[in-house]
Amino acid sequence: SHATAILDPRLAVSDIDRRIFGGFVEHLGRHIYDGIHEPAHPTADADGFRADVVELVRELGVSSIRYPGGNFVSNYRWEDGIGPRDERPRRLDLAWHSTETNEVGLHEFARWLELVGSELMLAVNLGTRGTAEALDLLEYANADADTTWTRQRAANGRPAPFGVGMWCLGNEMDGPWQVGHRNADDYGKLASQTAKAMRMLDPGIELVVCGSSSSGMPTFGSWERTVLEHTFDDVDFISCHSYYQERFGDAQEFLASGVDMSRFIASVVSIADAVAATKKSDKRIMISFDEWNVWYLHNDEGGQDDKPLEPGWPVAPRLLEDQYNAMDAVVFGDLLITLLQHSDRVRSASLAQLVNVIAPIMTEPGGPAWRQTTFFPFSLTSRLAGERAIRVPVESGTFTSERFGEVATVNAVATLDDDGVTLFVVNRSTTDAESLRVDVAAVAASFGRDLGIVETHLLHDDDRYAANTLADPERVGVVPVPDAQVVDGSLQLSLPPISWAAVRLA
Ligand code: AHR
Repeated sequence: SHATAILDPRLAVSDIDRRIFGGFVEHLGRHIYDGIHEPAHPTADADGFRADVVELVRELGVSSIRYPGGNFVSNYRWEDGIGPRDERPRRLDLAWHSTETNEVGLHEFARWLELVGSELMLAVNLGTRGTAEALDLLEYANADADTTWTRQRAANGRPAPFGVGMWCLGNEMDGPWQVGHRNADDYGKLASQTAKAMRMLDPGIELVVCGSSSSGMPTFGSWERTVLEHTFDDVDFISCHSYYQERFGDAQEFLASGVDMSRFIASVVSIADAVAATKKSDKRIMISFDEWNVWYLHNDEGGQDDKPLEPGWPVAPRLLEDQYNAMDAVVFGDLLITLLQHSDRVRSASLAQLVNVIAPIMTEPGGPAWRQTTFFPFSLTSRLAGERAIRVPVESGTFTSERFGEVATVNAVATLDDDGVTLFVVNRSTTDAESLRVDVAAVAASFGRDLGIVETHLLHDDDRYAANTLADPERVGVVPVPDAQVVDGSLQLSLPPISWAAVRLA
């Protein structure tokens, strides 16, 4: 099939907040322990952090990292993770039925973030705890004063404040599985009260209130409305969470996942703006899409596919260790395209998660670390995305999705910076290659010169289920787009079925 598109700087969406390339690290399974922290590993530094993992996280290009959960945070006592390591308590983690040793806490994690070059985003526990404990943590982390908490922080090796800028008011409080789950009214009141108090302590922070844990929740929509009616004046962001997977062997439907994410964002924006209208306010609540990924969560019988939680409260069990294939990476690339298409309202996002747990990076204890297929679209989009997003109108074929009706086969976005433009594009067809012709005349005119190809990357595998494993860690990767060229003001390239590509012009 043939598809056409236009790159025109006048189709501006917004500047891009780099926090859109964020990640998420939860105390879950082998994420922290035997993932990023493995003191006995040959590459471990004096603090026990694996250097090979640090290097991969740097290459991934993660701007900010949400920590320490997730479901875990709703029964977490942050004080357990500070002070001398050998005196730290061992606790039951109810969310993942594990034992938390607390060897890694706030200080260790902040040190790891310095190694990987990312910013800290913290979540407070609004499940088993409340405003007072959130204030304690905020004072410990951010206060520039002489108090018992800040003295303790200094005694623990950190005289200067951590200066954490972005805070989540709990996690997925709409979910019945969440420890301390509440209804929208109760959560909205608690979040509002906690937010107000936190701002009295540190007016400079940005706050994220919990939206729905997925757009499929029975309370989706009414949850957002009620929660924002309580917290509209107190918060900056509302969260969105969404996970996708191939179900019932229907690859074509899976490849429409970007449409679902796009509609989800549009719905939450509408609700937030409707609340603004009732409050006669110009304020715009932004979206923190702070959990997104492919996750093989459900089996075809409607149950949960992940291994049942192990008996006996193990330390760092293997949980949620999904193996990603080439098609997963294409859908994943499309989700990044979708986030960029909405960069005017999605001002922060966190890939869930980073290492071993539904992750782009996998490790073996004592062994290697490797890139899953999803690593490539993330690292390339993060590295090549410029400062501003522009809409890319595409004329392409369509396919029929059970849930979304007619869906465009080709989806694209572009970003601009002072030196050039980058196109990110996906072919969602399971059957047809697309020959794409992109009119670049307008964007070339805006630079006052012709544009040439600087680099191209194509992610595709004839076996859509091919994956990178311990035995074959480089099975799937990216290659240059074989036939990309600029001819008479048009960029031309072929996209095989189920493929994702990035093209940089300057
Ligand atoms: O990312 C895994 C889990 O998914 C998180 O702990 C939770 O917030 C969500 O349900």
